[in-house]
Amino acid sequence: MRLHPPIAIVLAVVLSASALLFAWPGSGARAGGDAAHGRALAGTRCAACHGADGAGGAPSVPRLAGQDADYLYRQLQAFGDGARASPVMDAVAAGLSERQRRDVAAFFAARSRHAAAGPEDALVDEGRVLFLAGGDDGRVPACADCHDAGKGGFAGGMRGMHGMAGMPMMGLPARHAPRLFGQHAAYVEQRLQGFTDGTPEALRMSAMAASMSLQQKRAVAAYVASRP
Ligand code: HEC
Ligand code: HEC
Repeated sequence: MRLHPPIAIVLAVVLSASALLFAWPGSGARAGGDAAHGRALAGTRCAACHGADGAGGAPSVPRLAGQDADYLYRQLQAFGDGARASPVMDAVAAGLSERQRRDVAAFFAARSRHAAAGPEDALVDEGRVLFLAGGDDGRVPACADCHDAGKGGFAGGMRGMHGMAGMPMMGLPARHAPRLFGQHAAYVEQRLQGFTDGTPEALRMSAMAASMSLQQKRAVAAYVASRP
């Protein structure tokens, strides 16, 4: 399902308006940010849409909790300088200083995602095969080559020589690939449908997304969303 952006925003605000308390204290010094400073910022500027601890929100608003701090920071940079387009996030990110981007990234990265395992069905099964082994025709690579390595997804076996977690793939260090497990399926599908991020990393991801069928996108989105 794709929500019209303004509707999605209103929904997000309404759904998470009551989520005013933070989950628990924690410090995340990754990406050089100060999570304690990030917490205050997150409460006033991000919580309405992403949830106070980054775990909530409408299906089209990504979960930020437990996401890689460096990835979060780079996305804020991309929104801020126009490399990644979003009518909502461009303005939000433009209003943050360099320091604030690092702090808020550190805060959300240190939260727990709290995702529960979702139901298994044929679509999830199809997505699992694609995620772990790639497409039959060799056009779509195994997502596990870069994403969620070591989180029970897999780290190198099924594709044998084609990829190993932590090894540079196509010139990309795998550690920069964002976490997909526990993400909203609708957001993952939406992102695969339209990569607008102009970073070199995302250009490669765009090429991969372009070679996926709609059915494959749906399946892999259902699979990652079903993973805790
Ligand atoms: C009005 C709602 C709203 C507010 C407020 C908001 N966001 Fe977002 N955010 C979104 C939406 C919607 C997206 C998805 C954008 C897209 O891909 O088109 C998003 C995407 C993101 C992403 C990309 C995540 C990913 O997985 O790629 C990051 C990072 C992010 N937001 C951080 C923040 C931070 C930090 C704040 C507070 C300083 C914030 N957002 C405030 C709605 C919001
Ligand atoms: C060669 C490594 C690599 C492979 C293989 C790969 N990705 Fe990615 N992916 C990345 C990187 C790096 C990014 C972050 C791009 C950026 O920095 O903007 C990314 C970003 C994404 C995002 C955006 C996440 C978010 O939070 O917004 C999605 C969704 C995604 N990939 C899905 C997939 C799927 C599905 C597959 C398998 C069909 C796959 N990727 C295969 C490296 C990879």
